[in-house]
Formats: sequence, C-alpha cells, structure tokens
Amino acid sequence: PTAPAVIVAIDGPSGTGKSSTSKAVAAQLGLSYLDTGAQYRAITWWMVSNGIDTDDPHAVAAAAGKPDIVSGTDPAAPAITVDGVDVAGPIRTQEVTSKVSAVSAVPEIRARITELQRTIAATAPLGIVVEGRDIGTTVLPDADLKIFLTASAEARAARRSGELKGADVNATREALIKRDAADSSRKASPLAKAGDAVEVDTTALTLPQVIECVVTLVEEKRAGK
Ligand code: DC
Repeated sequence: PTAPAVIVAIDGPSGTGKSSTSKAVAAQLGLSYLDTGAQYRAITWWMVSNGIDTDDPHAVAAAAGKPDIVSGTDPAAPAITVDGVDVAGPIRTQEVTSKVSAVSAVPEIRARITELQRTIAATAPLGIVVEGRDIGTTVLPDADLKIFLTASAEARAARRSGELKGADVNATREALIKRDAADSSRKASPLAKAGDAVEVDTTALTLPQVIECVVTLVEEKRAGK
C-alpha cells in the first residue's frame, strides 16, 4: 500500500540548518522539497536587476506580478529560474541578501509567492518538505508535521560564516540578527513558531543528528496516520 502524501513545514531563522536538514529529510524519505527563501530571493534579484527601488514598498508592490518564478522540487538538485533564467547563484549575493527582508515584507509579494507555494505543495505526488519562515503559520497551516528550528545567535553566525568562506563572524552575526529582527517584526506573516510546531534547538546538535530527529518525527506521524 502506498503511504498518503505527507506535508512537512520547517520554519526558523537563518543559520539553524533549515536548508541542509530539509533537503536531506526530503531525499531520505523520497519527498519533494521547496526552498521558499529562494523564491523571495529570486523576486528580490529581479527587482534589483530591473532597477526597482527595494526600499519603496509601492514600487515593489506594483511590480510584484511581473517576474515568472519557477521552482524545482528535487532535493538533490534544487533549481530556481526567473523568466527562464537560472538564478541559483545570483540569489545568494550579499546585495540580494541585504534587500530580501524589505521585499518579502510587502504584502503583494507575499500573496503572490504564497499562492505559488500552495500550488507546488498540493501537487507533490508523495508529499513535500517546505522550508521557510511562515510555512506552519500561514502558507500550510494544515501541514501534517511542523518543525521550528532554533539555535543560539553564536552558533548561527558561525555556521553562516563557515558557508560564506572567510566571512567575518562578527559582521555575519550582526547582519543575521538584523535580518531575523526584520523578518520577525514585519506585519505580513512574520517569522513565528506555530502553536502546534515541534521546536528543535540545534545549537548542540550535529547536522546528522538534526536530520535523524526530523526523519523520526515524520515517520512517527506517518505511522499514526
Ligand atoms: O531562508 P533564506 O535566508 O534564503 O530566506 C531569505 C529571506 O526570505 C528571509 O530573510 C525572509 C524571506 N522569507 C520569508 O519572508 N518567508 C519565507 N517563507 C521564507 C523566506
């Protein structure tokens, strides 16, 4: 008998291991995978590339419907295109990272991206792991399992500067704290833990331990279904 599709929401601030964990869990369980941060980064990249002032919410809102954003859902090869152009690299630049919080705070942007996310989740044949900030609270409130990953600011900054090879830990920590504060305090579906989410503090855990913990939670859910 085939198992019913399972929807897993993984939220949390940056540097908690969300992406690495979500990809590995999806791959291990044969599920689809969606990186919603990449979608906000992609639309931000388009705004920057088209000379839209990202600090002007009206200009951002007016252009919200223009770019065509397509996300791949293979955890082994996450892909993202804007108007057919592969932007997997360009969406990780410092410039996009520093502007994505302002763009993603605009309600018209969130409405557009949320709709894309719900369509992708609803059409994943075996189920999907969706990672972001507001997946459990807003995008997929009926998810089968909601995980909220946390870690100390020190651990998150250390992981991020490790990823950014050679980046200064203190500067990384400041930028990360600033972005999380902006993402948590915005009006339109801020970063928040859903009431029914399982919180996992990854500060003292290795990546394999976090993956194992989440895989076990998904399997328990499936068994109880
Ligand atoms: O996960 P990330 O660092 O790639 O996300 C980039 C930004 O996108 C993050 O600072 C806030 C925004 N974001 C969001 O508002 N809602 C989501 N579900 C995912 C990301």
